[in-house]
Amino acid sequence: MQWRSIVLGLLFLRLALSCVLWLAFGLGPSWGFNFPINFNFNLHKIELLKDGDAASPRTNTWSQKTYGSHNDPGKTCSKVGENSPKKSYLSFFEDGRDEYDRKYSSFPDTLKTEMRLLAKDMFYFGYDNYMKYAFPEDELNPIDCQGRGPDVLNPSNININDVLGNYSLTLIDTLDTLLILGNVSEFHKAVKLVIDTVSFDKDSTVQVFEANIRILGSLISAHILLTDPHHPFGDVSLEDYDNELLHMAHDLAVRLLPAFENTDTGIPYPRVNLMKGVPPDSVNETCTAGAGSLLVEFGILSRLIGDSTFEWVARRAVRALWSLRSNETGLLGNVVNIQTGQWVSKQSGLGAGMDSFYEYLLKSYILFGEKEDYRMFSAAYESIQIHLRRGREACNEGEGDPPLYVNVNMFSGQIMNTWIDSLQAFFPGLQ
Ligand SMILES: *[C@@H]1O[C@H](CO)[C@@H](O)[C@H](O)[C@H]1NC(C)=O
Ligand SMILES: *[C@@H]1O[C@H](CO)[C@@H](O)[C@H](O)[C@H]1NC(C)=O
Ligand SMILES: *[C@@H]1O[C@H](CO)[C@@H](O)[C@H](O)[C@H]1NC(C)=O
Ligand SMILES: *[C@@H]1O[C@H](CO)[C@@H](O)[C@H](O)[C@H]1NC(C)=O
Repeated sequence: MQWRSIVLGLLFLRLALSCVLWLAFGLGPSWGFNFPINFNFNLHKIELLKDGDAASPRTNTWSQKTYGSHNDPGKTCSKVGENSPKKSYLSFFEDGRDEYDRKYSSFPDTLKTEMRLLAKDMFYFGYDNYMKYAFPEDELNPIDCQGRGPDVLNPSNININDVLGNYSLTLIDTLDTLLILGNVSEFHKAVKLVIDTVSFDKDSTVQVFEANIRILGSLISAHILLTDPHHPFGDVSLEDYDNELLHMAHDLAVRLLPAFENTDTGIPYPRVNLMKGVPPDSVNETCTAGAGSLLVEFGILSRLIGDSTFEWVARRAVRALWSLRSNETGLLGNVVNIQTGQWVSKQSGLGAGMDSFYEYLLKSYILFGEKEDYRMFSAAYESIQIHLRRGREACNEGEGDPPLYVNVNMFSGQIMNTWIDSLQAFFPGLQ
């Protein structure tokens, strides 16, 4: 618990610092001085928030105040065309290419091969050590090199318990990677191990979303890989395979279903106990991504076993979320109450809490061809471009600030902050 105090301490320190600077430099409403502030990112955020104009969705800048003249070295978007007609701000330096640009602006084939081998090594390092030190537990704790499962002593430790369900998570999560790396024998071994040792009849309270993407998704994809008549990875069929992985996926999905009951909106509870259903003291709040990223797996499961229930509940959740979007901006918020349909967090963005909602709309359309999914995706995408995207048109050239997707209030479209979290990195893949 020590790290938690440290994080909280740092957070308070940061807040306190911001407050002091705020007061000292007169950014509060009734303070007169006007310092030309150009050194603290927090302050710029405050300035942006204050400045209705800069925060208007149609303004093409997000960092005008932050950077003033573009004398800052670029830290993103490193690739610059050498003979691009307009000067990018990277060209203020040396020959127009800073160290990062020289290093990362291209990705030659030899480097790709090298990286591929490194990725493979890294995978085997993780997999072999998990099997050696941690299996059958959920994951390998890299600090003490021991297996780790749910934190039974502290049920509120959701960082751990949302994901680790005491079901050999890493082994299941690994199945398709083994095949993609071409290791058919190890894939077969792992499949048998899953069939022989994993059970979902566990007194574990897990997040529906995590169990879906990691466990349900892995079981279904491994099942499809084993039985696909087109043999995309060669003939990898297993002699006495009798759809066990599909039965396991079905068993798990049935255990997740209680999350979709007793909710007034149809949006599921975020967590469920695999043995006992939704715990009596469950929170009624869920994030948009958590509730809206189930349709791919639930939909395929329904089609494989011929029971439409799973697709139906997942689709109902997506529709319910969709119906709660702002009719001004078309945007959804981050956290919603599943009983009242009220938005608990009105922050809209592309990162944590929302990311895979968009991803699943498009993937569902690609998989199932339902026009409804594409219509929702297109409308969401348009709202994103109108309200979240700031900065110039092109990434590496042209006038104005480098482009950025910011976080805004879903109803007003006003900037709430300019944070980017790692989860936002999925977006170029979707585009
Ligand atoms: C995991 O499941 C096994 C078998 O059901 C049980 O004996 C064990 O106590 C569980 N461990 C945790 C950490 O929940
Ligand atoms: C497959 O994986 C196992 C376990 O990591 C390893 O011992 C074996 O060498 C791998 N085979 C291939 C062909 O990579
Ligand atoms: C969740 O909502 C239900 C139904 O409105 C209510 O009975 C329950 O007390 C709520 N739970 C919490 C933790 O607020
Ligand atoms: C938006 O929706 C609210 C509530 O459903 C409604 O009262 C309002 O008139 C709508 N506004 C517009 C511009 O359609």
